[in-house]
Amino acid sequence: MPRVTGTVYLVGAGPGDVDLLTVKAVRLLQQADVVLHDALVSPEILRLIRPDAKVIDVGKRHRHKFLTQAEINSLLEFYAQRKQTIVRLKGGDPLIFGRAGEEIAALTEAGIKFEIVPGVTSALASATAAKVSLTDRRFASSIVFATARRQSGGEAVDWSRLVATKSTLAIYMPGDDYAHLSRELVDGGLMDHVPCTVVSRASLPGQQVLRTTLGALAHTEALPAPALLIVGPCANPAAQFTTANARDPLENEYFRNDPSDRYI
Ligand SMILES: C[S@@+](CC[C@H](N)C(=O)[O-])C[C@H]1O[C@@H](n2cnc3c(N)ncnc32)[C@H](O)[C@@H]1O
Repeated sequence: MPRVTGTVYLVGAGPGDVDLLTVKAVRLLQQADVVLHDALVSPEILRLIRPDAKVIDVGKRHRHKFLTQAEINSLLEFYAQRKQTIVRLKGGDPLIFGRAGEEIAALTEAGIKFEIVPGVTSALASATAAKVSLTDRRFASSIVFATARRQSGGEAVDWSRLVATKSTLAIYMPGDDYAHLSRELVDGGLMDHVPCTVVSRASLPGQQVLRTTLGALAHTEALPAPALLIVGPCANPAAQFTTANARDPLENEYFRNDPSDRYI
């Protein structure tokens, strides 16, 4: 087996706008011998890759099936044994819902040198698009990055545990069934009138921002993917900018003390 000489860079591509890439990401794309990228990476960013580099879309179907994580890990190992600079390009930030943990474990086990280059995660790009201050001190002092997707073991998200933190929720992969998600959040302890904002294609052409409430979200058609849902008092900038609306966070009326009080 060839000796491992290459370095793998797990690079964040940000939410899509090429101007949001880090300088380091651009430099690595121009240097890389091989780039393995996710499906969500925009064409403008892919155009920065050195023209003679090998480019593999690992988010695409290959011979009628998607590559498994184990197959991607094997590709990283294969190229690290043959090339100098390998970029594993991931949407947003590699460490947020990007399966970087599995790749880090595989690279470590194989004795391959690697570095991580952060990117703008889509929760922050979405907050920017919606002009939402995620930690407006009148309303929230923490943020939870969550996903509406079930975990790999099939375990459902425990919304009541997350809601109980009174954090602003940034929900990745909200799916198409807003009625179901809205119901789960209300069952988890939020009130129907809690503001929420859906941001579709943040920073990309066709970006859309929909401001609503949890109750109304249930009757809303899903926005085009990729989309992210921000939930909590901070999600309504109108409320933030009116000092008369400022609330004492301790008397916040957006959260029910007992989730079973849903209809009170
Ligand atoms: C597998 S996760 C990857 C997250 C990524 N690592 C990050 O840090 O943003 C994919 C989800 O990120 C969100 N997402 C990615 N790009 C987005 C964008 N431009 N606008 C809104 N949401 C986006 C969507 O919720 C999408 O379903």
